[in-house]
Amino acid sequence: MKTLPFSEAEIRRAVSQFPTPFHLYNAEAIRQNARRLMKAFEWAGGFTNFFAVKACPNPYVLEILMEEGFGADCSSASELVLAEMVGITGEMIMYTSNDTSARELVTAVREGVIVNLDDITFIPFLEKHAGIPELLCLRYNPGPLREGNALIGKPEEAKYGFTGKQLLEGYKILRDKGVKRFGLHTMVASNGLDPQYFIATAEMLFSLVAEISEELGICFEFVNLGGGIGIPYMPDQNPVDLEIVSAGIKDLYKDIIIGNGLDPLKIYMENGRMIVGPFGCLVTTAIHPMTKYRDYVGVDACINALMRYALYGSYHHITVVGKENDPLTKTYCVTGSLCENNDYFATDRLLPEIVEGDILVIHDTGAHGHAMGSNYNGKPRPAEILMDPDGSFRQIRREETTADLFKTLDFSKLRTKSR
Ligand SMILES: Cc1ncc(COP(=O)(O)O)c(C=O)c1O
Repeated sequence: MKTLPFSEAEIRRAVSQFPTPFHLYNAEAIRQNARRLMKAFEWAGGFTNFFAVKACPNPYVLEILMEEGFGADCSSASELVLAEMVGITGEMIMYTSNDTSARELVTAVREGVIVNLDDITFIPFLEKHAGIPELLCLRYNPGPLREGNALIGKPEEAKYGFTGKQLLEGYKILRDKGVKRFGLHTMVASNGLDPQYFIATAEMLFSLVAEISEELGICFEFVNLGGGIGIPYMPDQNPVDLEIVSAGIKDLYKDIIIGNGLDPLKIYMENGRMIVGPFGCLVTTAIHPMTKYRDYVGVDACINALMRYALYGSYHHITVVGKENDPLTKTYCVTGSLCENNDYFATDRLLPEIVEGDILVIHDTGAHGHAMGSNYNGKPRPAEILMDPDGSFRQIRREETTADLFKTLDFSKLRTKSR
């Protein structure tokens, strides 16, 4: 049976304190999981996971990760500000964006963060607008050399990164412009569960570092293997064995990096999903069990709190609180209140019989959950609640209000204002 990071009593206690719907995160589980990743790579001097802020852009979650030694991977100026507010600064921030504006690049260079360029044309663009810093990283897209997956698509069809040929050219230009410190980045998988995939990514980057260093006589400071370590969304899946990933990468490090005299080379990652995904869930109340041509249960959350099923058809397990051991007798579509026919958390899902007032917990919403929400249909996004190690709950983001949604509008110019 797929379990939650909370007991039934904890969920009921949270519901008694906060109106549903809300995302609920477990602080201690996130902390222990962050430590698990750091421990797996403790052999690698300077190993850092730059947490992909987009996965869960809440300062209280980032604070836990900062305390565990994580950096931040940012893709927008606001993510950068958020990381800095928490105390993650300078080279503990990696700015991995694409199609980035001059303004964002100027901010990133001014703040002294690691800038990760997405295309060869960014080199003159960066020089013109922000100047060339002494440390730069380039993002590699291996194209047909690697398989992607349903979430991220095929690398050769993705808009990101330098081709192999451009990469060599890019580092040559940077070397000739006087850059002294170099990094190499890629992000080819998302939600991958096969440890070998991540080992193959390390092999690809280590080999590139060896080739480029030899060809251009430059010295790499780090490789960033990207994020993308998956989580077991489905009941029959297992978490990625980090020890296997780490051991495979360690062997390659010895062969390729130490073997070619390229040691020390720091290993960075930028996982988001595996850090927080399983340790958050969306707690919602059944408000309208209905039968049409199919059986439906309308809940008080909608996809503005969790877009993943609507966007990718992604599976999120659902627990009906207190009915964990009841027979699965009904096939439901679990839907929200948007006037939009993709507003589903699940379709044709076998669940116990649901009545109005039942609490449904949608699993694995800690990453790319609240963060991806929208205000479509004028729906305020829900609150985020954090359970602390002593079992108490903290509201770490309040629910949006109608006033929040209207705060960018100026009603005073309306001709009908006098009414
Ligand atoms: C550049 C980059 N790094 C890291 C991540 C985080 O991926 P994940 O949350 O699957 O680890 C993403 C996700 O979109 C990304 O685009």
